Amino acid sequence: GSNAMWGGRFAEGPAAVMREINASIPFDKRLWKQDVAGSRAHVAMLGKQGIVEAADAERIAAGLEQVAAGYAADGVPEDLTLEDIHMVTEARLAEAIGPVAGRLHTARSRNDQVATDFRLWVRDAIDEVTGALRGFQTALLARAEEHAASVMPGFTHLQSAQPVTLGHHLMAYWEMASRDVGRFTDARARMNRSPLGSAALAGTGFPVDREATASALGFDGPTRNSLDAVSDRDFAIEYLTSAAQCALHLSRLAEEFVLWASQPFGFVSLSDQWSTGSSIMPQKRNPDAAELVRGHAGRITGCLVSLMVTMKGLPLAYSKDMQDDKPPVFEAHDLLGLCIAAMTGMVESATFRTERMRQVAEAGFSTATDLADWLVREAGVPFREAHHITGRAVARAEALGIGLDALPLGDLTAIDGRITAGVYDVLSVDASVASRMSFGGTAPANVRAAIAAARESMA
Ligand code: ARG
Repeated sequence: GSNAMWGGRFAEGPAAVMREINASIPFDKRLWKQDVAGSRAHVAMLGKQGIVEAADAERIAAGLEQVAAGYAADGVPEDLTLEDIHMVTEARLAEAIGPVAGRLHTARSRNDQVATDFRLWVRDAIDEVTGALRGFQTALLARAEEHAASVMPGFTHLQSAQPVTLGHHLMAYWEMASRDVGRFTDARARMNRSPLGSAALAGTGFPVDREATASALGFDGPTRNSLDAVSDRDFAIEYLTSAAQCALHLSRLAEEFVLWASQPFGFVSLSDQWSTGSSIMPQKRNPDAAELVRGHAGRITGCLVSLMVTMKGLPLAYSKDMQDDKPPVFEAHDLLGLCIAAMTGMVESATFRTERMRQVAEAGFSTATDLADWLVREAGVPFREAHHITGRAVARAEALGIGLDALPLGDLTAIDGRITAGVYDVLSVDASVASRMSFGGTAPANVRAAIAAARESMA
């Protein structure tokens, strides 16, 4: 038969494939709470404004609670004929309270309705993500504090560069997470305007009170332009850009865990909870979760690209293409939740093999810069010349198969007569990290101060 919602204009029902391609209920049923909340605010306003009689508005409001209770108990029925969550809810409402349900959609379109529902959903999603990120940051802080003075090799080009502390390294990820929280928070503030009352695209002739529905739904106020309001999906894109950026950071940490857990590195041993075995090789402890975080970051980025490409060619105002806005946001949100939780668990439970880290830091001539700096400071040598002298010292140590700090003084003075025994004070990895006292540098005292400041900023 023809559609109950718009049947007046149609003689025939849709083709089966039309029904299937058109339906969003299989995924937008996730919006049911937001849809009920939006309708609740809308009908209260309709009653207050006298657009719908007060008694009818009350019956509709009570009916909506019945529908919501049904959803909570039994889930949302996936009726493809009814297309989407908005029409399923209206149909359930009619079942519950009869024809008066038909007054709910006065002064409203599914266009402003879905824009409102989706904003509410993304706003909740942001609150969930920022909460999870705080947990991740807390885990980083605890491990960074434990390892504020644990020496590890710092890399550039994945070559041993200068010693750093593990605490400093972990705090670098805290910084990234803190920018991520900032991006989500900024996006939330920008999106917090209510499209409700924009109707299909042009606004409505009914005397709606948009301020009232906006504040009932926790928005800062109504959107200013009805055409923009129904066709804007910036809020979803901003959620996805923030999610993609955040996933990218988690992926870099995941990649480090994969590297560090490998036998040649041996910097970390992941807990049993975050490792998997092999079906054939009994010795294996694979970092599958970290690899999947790395993989999921690609999928989340794909979700962002998907929505941007959907939106880029759409004329104003609403087009049905926009129904495809929800799957990528839902997918990205689910994946990001897993990624944050997995990285939090790995950080909390990892065993850092600090002896091995120290040994690698000592083996890589990573204090060569400290020798050059000593020549500049103590012997007045220009840095470029000091670099050259140090290069010769490294070559000598390499030829002897020892570290810089084990080079006999005679070998050093043979390279440059200005070198004295005092140089050994700066050649150990501990002396090297302790000297990096510039603001933001890796000295353990700095790391402890950074952790204290971070804790304060989160309180
Ligand atoms: N299910 C639709 C969506 O998610 C709701 C809006 C439909 N509006 C319309 N004019 N067909 O985009």
